[in-house]
Amino acid sequence: MTRQELLDAIEAKYAAQGQDMDVHLSGLLHAETMTYWDFANVDALLSLQIKRTNLPDEMVFIMYHQINELLFKMILWEIQQISHNDDITPEKFSMHLARVSRYFDMLSGSFDIMSEGMEISQYMKFRDTLTPASGFQSAQYRKIEIASTELINLIDFRFRDNIDRETPYSHAFEHMYWQAAGKDYKTGKKSKLMTNFETKYRVELINYMEEYNLVNLWTKFKQLPKEYRENKELINEMRHYDHTVNISWVMHHYNAASKYLDSGKEGAKATGGSDWHKYMHPRYQRRIFFPELWSADELENWGVTNLEKHL
Ligand code: HEM
Repeated sequence: MTRQELLDAIEAKYAAQGQDMDVHLSGLLHAETMTYWDFANVDALLSLQIKRTNLPDEMVFIMYHQINELLFKMILWEIQQISHNDDITPEKFSMHLARVSRYFDMLSGSFDIMSEGMEISQYMKFRDTLTPASGFQSAQYRKIEIASTELINLIDFRFRDNIDRETPYSHAFEHMYWQAAGKDYKTGKKSKLMTNFETKYRVELINYMEEYNLVNLWTKFKQLPKEYRENKELINEMRHYDHTVNISWVMHHYNAASKYLDSGKEGAKATGGSDWHKYMHPRYQRRIFFPELWSADELENWGVTNLEKHL
């Protein structure tokens, strides 16, 4: 664009808003120059790491969780661009999916920061100060799951037969797989971990379920033209994402939990209080975002055999 064309375009932009371009040009004359610390909000970002104990490794724990939340936000940002695009091209779908996958690969590949990067003795102390909080209460993690697949794939296996598209969201919410971490299905009583989580996020998550009901990644994939739905590369990208979230990450997380919580003679309780050995292992929950993209054998052996060689 020539300078004149640029000025004309800016003038047109402000005219459309009933604004005078000259005032904005004068504003530019006095504006501060842009800096790195301003555009990245570095000061605000670095003021958010606040320890509750005198143990240095609590800082590793806090900051790695924050890094996770930032990446969760990046993932949701990309999924949203697939989901809320009414006529997305297969190329664009594939591009955003690859971004989402790269971010989750990063989360999965960096989990050693948790399992190797803290002294067990320090962890076992500061965890008591943080009880009953748990990463379980990450709403963004739940949103990623909700935005990735159809709700039925996130319902606890024991209740899937009683739930279909006509079931109210509030009923589905009560039967999401994650309830098993803090709900006694016989009495209906929920743990503090769960009641805290639901008080803060229940309404927001139910709205989210509604928002992504027909535009989640899986539904959007099924709407692509046949040649793309059957494209080996794209199918493999979908499988890779599913595997990274629901097996790789879950296993890294499980192994980290095991390293710390099984470190004592008796084994420690999870801060959130779940029966964590059972709750966290992929072979029990068998969470799968895109079940139709896996063979019967692969589904059967979910979280049991190493599928990585097929991806
Ligand atoms: C040493 C590190 C960690 C340990 C020992 C650990 C332990 C646990 C345990 C025991 C649970 C089960 C719920 C409970 O009773 O608390 C859980 C759930 C969870 N944690 Fe962690 N965690 C660790 C790090 C992380 C990190 C870095 C994240 C990233 C945000 C995270 C995210 C989650 C999520 C999303 C759940 C729910 C998973 C599900 O529903 O299957 N955790 N964690």
